[in-house]
Amino acid sequence: MTRIILIGYMGAGKTTIGRQLAMALGLQFYDLDWYIEMRYHKKVSEIFAEQGEEHFRDLEQRMLHEVAEFEDVVISCGGGTPCYGDNMQYMNQQAETVYLKLTPETLCEHLKMGRTVRPLILGKTGDELQEYIRQSLEAREPFYSQAKHIVDVSLMDNFEKIEITINLLRKELKL
Ligand code: S3P
Repeated sequence: MTRIILIGYMGAGKTTIGRQLAMALGLQFYDLDWYIEMRYHKKVSEIFAEQGEEHFRDLEQRMLHEVAEFEDVVISCGGGTPCYGDNMQYMNQQAETVYLKLTPETLCEHLKMGRTVRPLILGKTGDELQEYIRQSLEAREPFYSQAKHIVDVSLMDNFEKIEITINLLRKELKL
């Protein structure tokens, strides 16, 4: 049985890489944010806006406990998932966890280009965004670095290089 969970900051490419990795390994792919949206018929941004972050973290933990029971899957979770409650410990117990690591500068570039509405950075521009990423990444790093595997995905800068990244991950995971 194979179960892989990808963690990392917003904009690290967890969903893109997760989908491709699942395809390469012949596994099912789940994105925790999408799973929450499907189960609650609401966008993550709407849950944040209507019920607040605390409520979202609650749902997120509950949904994590559903998807992390599935077998032969690659799961990408939200940027905040590892940092609440005992989620990181739980994920390590359930799966091969992989931290997709990127510099704050590259994350900032990805997030400026991204189309997903992300409530935590909504309305932030330029310097503000850069500073927010730097600070919150520093706060989250102690959680992320508890992953069983840490992979530098700077190569993902260019989307054509995703194949190289997938090979890097397979080598790390010995799969
Ligand atoms: C969050 C990241 C988002 C989503 C929510 C909160 C975070 O997921 O779960 O907006 O706290 O970093 P992505 O990392 O997929 O953007």
